[in-house]
Amino acid sequence: MQTEILKPTDLNIMRCASRLKAGELVAFPTETVYALGAVATNAQAVKKVFEVKKRPMDKPLIVAVSKKSDIKKVVKSIPQKAQILIDKFMPGALTLVFDRADVIPDEVTAGSSSVAVRIPDNAVAQKLIELACAPVVVPSANTSDKASPTLAAHVKDDLDSKIEYILDGGASEIGIESTIVDVRTDPPTVLRAGGVTVEQLKAAIGEIKAKREDARLSGYMPNAEVLFSAYYDGMTDNICKRYDELMAKQKTVVILCLDGNRSAYGDRNVYTVGDSYEAYAHNLFALLRKADGEHYDAVIAEGVNPVGLGESLIARLIKLSGGLII
Ligand code: TXA
Ligand code: MG
Repeated sequence: MQTEILKPTDLNIMRCASRLKAGELVAFPTETVYALGAVATNAQAVKKVFEVKKRPMDKPLIVAVSKKSDIKKVVKSIPQKAQILIDKFMPGALTLVFDRADVIPDEVTAGSSSVAVRIPDNAVAQKLIELACAPVVVPSANTSDKASPTLAAHVKDDLDSKIEYILDGGASEIGIESTIVDVRTDPPTVLRAGGVTVEQLKAAIGEIKAKREDARLSGYMPNAEVLFSAYYDGMTDNICKRYDELMAKQKTVVILCLDGNRSAYGDRNVYTVGDSYEAYAHNLFALLRKADGEHYDAVIAEGVNPVGLGESLIARLIKLSGGLII
């Protein structure tokens, strides 16, 4: 099968929607990362998603709808705090976990009685889902051993010849995945920190529980070893020291740093991530792919303050480093 990257014209979106309706898979842009879509109510199509992604069968998929009024079609009920979060953050980088309605097959939820739902804040994604006339599963469009894709080219690198079409919407705006909140508990529980920050959630509904993710259970790991630095005054000195130790052991190393810290690393190998935590999130996965492409043995990532997207970045980087912080 040839994999074609398509411009997101109306005609191409229509073409992709009809492939979805026919039970095929299509990759498309969302504001967080690229999605690998299939019609969620078609169990056979959903099974193909697991095959193509090489995803463990016990890891459920997120379901996307194109508008708020469609959420009630895929869930049993909408708790009051969930409604507040829907009104405030959807469409957007927030996924809510509800009791699932019967239309969603076991294949989507790995047999669980819950379903995770979101509305992508991306016009191409919304139009495609609307034209598919059905809820659509939206896992990240990478194979399980790779970083979430933030460009159509990343999707092609991973899924070439496995899917027909990739709609190209340019670089994903946010660059890390959605925040997942289980609204079946009160207070609701954050299962994954992502594009919507925990501070924003607290401001909307008050108390919220955080479930610690188990770093050792992480799916994707880059080929390069990831060392994640704590955030403190002596951070850049500590990173230089670790870098020099690794180089002395004949390892090739690259540092991920904010533009403002660039000069602290002298002539060491550096990828700059931009000048804000938003930019760090936006560029993180693409730079990890680049580090693997350039065969680095190790990546040292600068630590950040746990404010705003910093908290979501820390959660990702702890996972990527296997829980080891330098
Ligand atoms: O931003 C995102 O959410 C992206 C875009 C493409 O939509 N998708 C994404 O999907 O990150 P994926 O498959 O890479 O990660 C989905 C996460 C998994 O950790 C899965 O365990 C969790 O969502 N999940 C899905 N359904 C769930 C459920 N019913 N209960 C709890 N967790 C669930
Ligand atoms: Mg993923």
